[in-house]
Amino acid sequence: MRSARAALKGRVSLVPTMGALHAGHMSLVRLARAQSDNVVASLFVNPTQFGPNEDFALYPRPRGRDLQMFRDAGVDVVYAPLASEVYPPGDSTRVDPGEMGAILEGAHRPGHFAGVATVVTKLFVLVRPDVAVFGEKDAQQVRVIKRVTRDLMHGVEIAVAPTVREADGLALSSRNVLLKPEDRAAAPAIYQSLRAAMDAWQKGERRGPAISNAVRTVLSGVPQAEVEYVSAADPETLAEVGLTSGPVLVSLAVRFGSVRLIDNVTLTT
Ligand code: PAJ
Repeated sequence: MRSARAALKGRVSLVPTMGALHAGHMSLVRLARAQSDNVVASLFVNPTQFGPNEDFALYPRPRGRDLQMFRDAGVDVVYAPLASEVYPPGDSTRVDPGEMGAILEGAHRPGHFAGVATVVTKLFVLVRPDVAVFGEKDAQQVRVIKRVTRDLMHGVEIAVAPTVREADGLALSSRNVLLKPEDRAAAPAIYQSLRAAMDAWQKGERRGPAISNAVRTVLSGVPQAEVEYVSAADPETLAEVGLTSGPVLVSLAVRFGSVRLIDNVTLTT
């Protein structure tokens, strides 16, 4: 990767992924392409961001298909390392993003954002991109990466792409293929619950807890949906809001059986 990087001339963008690519990932590649002369994409299911009881082993790995999709999209370099290359024997250094990584997703997935911050730091150091592209689908990840990039003085510009959804509103996710058919049929309720927050906001609701309740009410009508959290937070700090003039980041995590899905919308006037 280091020598491939040295051969690239002009502006370089990086699109980090864990593979099992879908149209959401490809929209990141297009945004990267539009901002640079060369696109580097990474394909690595990062073990350190999965908890001991999470789906690391089950995470889909359609390697040949992923490489073809990157090739068709005109990606210049794909970095698809072995875990032993990223984490060689004796590897012990971790990047801890602090409080911002400990709330919301971090509260339910201890250590998750340290794993993300560590692997993204390794990728930044190795690839030395001018710009790196991430999806707003993982809103807290974007905030954590912006913070780490600033705090560690990576000097990488962070570009953010909007969430790509199915026609029924379900946000594209590599985990959607793991849903049982009846859970896939019920999963659009996630976006419907976020629409309820948008409707409440439109009608003048400005209390964070009331906005979260509007989301919960929709999901409580779906027996197989097990809500982990619903948050109405300041999009910059991720602190929960009380009475607010906005903007508000409404985010949630919901389990359908063993599959955990996240989504969010931002409310603005
Ligand atoms: P992964 O889940 O593969 O996602 C890679 C990138 O695609 C992330 O920036 C994510 O926000 C974006 N993405 C996923 N679904 C999207 C959708 N429906 N619309 C738009 N963008 C979407 O996120 C990770 O991998 C990892 O944590 C990683 C950053 C690669 C570090 O291991």
